[in-house]
Order: sequence, then C-alpha cells, then structure tokens
Amino acid sequence: MRSVITGSGISVGAHVVPNAALEKLMDTTDEWIRTRSGVQQRYYAGDGVGSAELGMEAAEKALAAAGRSRDDIDAIIFATMTPNYFFPGNGPVLQAKMGFRESLPTFDIRQQCSGFLYGLDLADSLIRSGKYRRLLLVGAEVHTPFMPWKRGGWASTIGEDVEITEEMRALNTKLRDRTVLFGDGAGAVVIEGIENGDRGFIAARLYTNGSNIEALYVSGAGFRRRPYVDVDQVENGDVIPDMDGREVFRQAVSKMPEAVREVCAANGVSVADIDVLLIHQANLRIVEGVAKQLGLPPEKTPHNIERYANTTAGTLPILYHECVADGRIKPGMLVCFTALGSGLHWGAALYRA
Ligand code: ACO
Repeated sequence: MRSVITGSGISVGAHVVPNAALEKLMDTTDEWIRTRSGVQQRYYAGDGVGSAELGMEAAEKALAAAGRSRDDIDAIIFATMTPNYFFPGNGPVLQAKMGFRESLPTFDIRQQCSGFLYGLDLADSLIRSGKYRRLLLVGAEVHTPFMPWKRGGWASTIGEDVEITEEMRALNTKLRDRTVLFGDGAGAVVIEGIENGDRGFIAARLYTNGSNIEALYVSGAGFRRRPYVDVDQVENGDVIPDMDGREVFRQAVSKMPEAVREVCAANGVSVADIDVLLIHQANLRIVEGVAKQLGLPPEKTPHNIERYANTTAGTLPILYHECVADGRIKPGMLVCFTALGSGLHWGAALYRA
C-alpha cells in the first residue's frame, strides 16, 4: 500500500499587494524586499476570511481534481499556525462548513512552516496502518491578522483610504523585517492508499529542536499568562511574531540540505536522483542556498516566493500544485519536499509522482 496524492488545489487572498504598496506604510523599498527575499508581491485576504476559508477553497479544488466526493474522505488533517479560533482548530470548522459528514474525524497540527511536511508523514502513517484509506490534507495560513492592522494602516494595502501618520509608519518600520515576507494562502491535497503501484510516498525524516523556540515565536497570547491576552500585551507587540531572521536563515540553509541527504541515504537514492526538490518558500536566498549545497540546478528547485511570499503551511502544497499543473512534475519523477520553520521543526520527504 502506497500513499498517493490524487488531487491538489490552491487558494490565495483576494487582494494582490505588490512591494510598492508597502513602501507607503513603512521605510522599505521594492528593491530591498526583492534583493533580500525574492518577494515581489503577496496576496492578502480581507476581513472575515480566515485560514479555514482559504483552506476550504483549496480543499474543494483538490477534491474535484481527485474526482472524489466528501463521502469518500475518511479523515481530515489541517496544518496551520493561524487558525480561525484559538480553539478548536480549523479541522472541525472546515468539516462543518464544507458539509462533510458530522462524525468525520479531523486532526489539527501546527508545525508552522513544516506543517504540510509533518502532515504528509502523518497521512502516510494513517493510511499504511490501515486505519484510513483516503485523507484530505490542508496547509493554510492568513498572516495579515498578525500585522498591526488598525494601528499601522494596513487596510490601505487592500484599497481602503487610510492616511498613514508618522506614528503608524514608525510602528510598521519596526516590524518590517517580518511583515514584508508573508502572504495569505492555502494548498490542499487528497491522499489515497493505492495497492501494487510504484507511485506514492516513500519516506520522511522529521526533526524538532525546541531549544531554539525564541528564534521565531509569539511570546504573548499564551496560557502561562493570566489573562492569556490583555491590552498591555497588544500594545507591547507581544502578539506579533518575534523573529531572529539571521538565525532562522542560518538554520534553514544547513538543516534542510542535511535532512534531504539523510532521507535519500536512508532510502537508497542519491541527491542527484531527485527530479524536483520542493523547498519551503521563506526566502529566495534560502532556496538558492539549499539548492547550491545539494548541487541541484535551478530547473530542479522551483520557486514561487516572488508571487506569494511566505505562506507558511501553504507554501509546499501551493508549489507542488503549480509544478504538477504546468508539467514540471511528471508521473514517475522523484520529488522531495523539505521545510524548516518555527519550533524549530524541519525535515524532508521523498515521493514518487
Ligand atoms: N526594508 C528595508 N530594510 C530592512 C527591512 C525592510 N523590509 N527589513 C530589515 N531591514 C534592514 C535592517 O534593519 C538592517 O538595517 P541595519 O543594517 O541598518 O541594521 C538591514 O536591513 C539588514 O538586515 P538583516 O537582518 O541583516 O537582513 P538580512 O539580509 O538578514 O535579511 C531577512 C533579513 C529577510 C529577514 C532574512 O534574514 C531571512 O529571510 N531570514 C529567514 C526568515 C525565515 O525563514 N523565517 C522562517 C519561516 S516563517 C515560519 O516558520 C512561520
């Protein structure tokens, strides 16, 4: 029994936001954002659209692509660090809103940028254990609510007429190393257990190192505080992610290549055998650094960060979907997924398309 992706779909926020729109909000330039991160534009979802809604749209398309109805699905795995509610997670939200049967089990996982990768391995384990036959795996994120929406005038990026004061600009400039890197987006896949075939999931290597949590985390709105969130935390910016960009960068360009080498070695293939390496899209320079270390040419390491920015749990399924749709991933190819993000969680997975 092999776990095979039989359909995929994607969805992004309704508003396209080029770098130039951010120049109005803070001290940044299109040139800085392009050269330091590769991002040219991103999509923002409007008010009322959460990661569950983006995930639903992607899931609907994935089901259609797989030729499956809601009744065919045995369980849902939803990966996100930005759920609609603090609890419950997005699994039950998506289940009810999409009209899946009321008893359908759902798993909510939150490995941030590695969420989809962890979800793939979990889906494969559930399928190969014989517990479930067909799963829906969703990776979705809306990052815009992390941005200081009202205080920073971010509504101007989606066409609202907002006057940007010096105070707003100063606040946004303080957060510019993070905010310019993210966009809202989702990808979903249907994964099915198929017998006696060559296609499907081969193996994954997953890792966590919790000693580096503060490299990328949200210090506020947590349950060691009483109350878990208050006005002071909001005013201090404790509800906005803290990021040590250089440290995450350093970890990303060393740990992802290591994980790719390890998963290849453990499964009797060489790195050069990989036809397409799908790398988490956090920064184009990270993608290029990982490719260089592994000796893989640009045609084997596709990227789309220029159009979507970092969509965290959404980046791998969005990139996978686009590569299948435009023929860069063809049947029989050896595909490798790799990611690293907050946790730190990272890893790599091999898949025969
Ligand atoms: N516009 C203009 N200038 C900026 C901006 C901006 N948006 N952001 C930072 N700068 C400035 C800094 O203030 C600094 O100025 P200074 O030299 O006067 O102090 C200068 O640019 C250089 O800053 P660096 O931090 O050295 O820039 P770097 O080249 O390291 O790029 C970046 C920063 C883009 C954040 C990079 O480190 C990076 O991509 N890190 C990894 C991010 C990542 O992978 N996140 C994890 C995934 S997300 C997840 O898991 C949820």
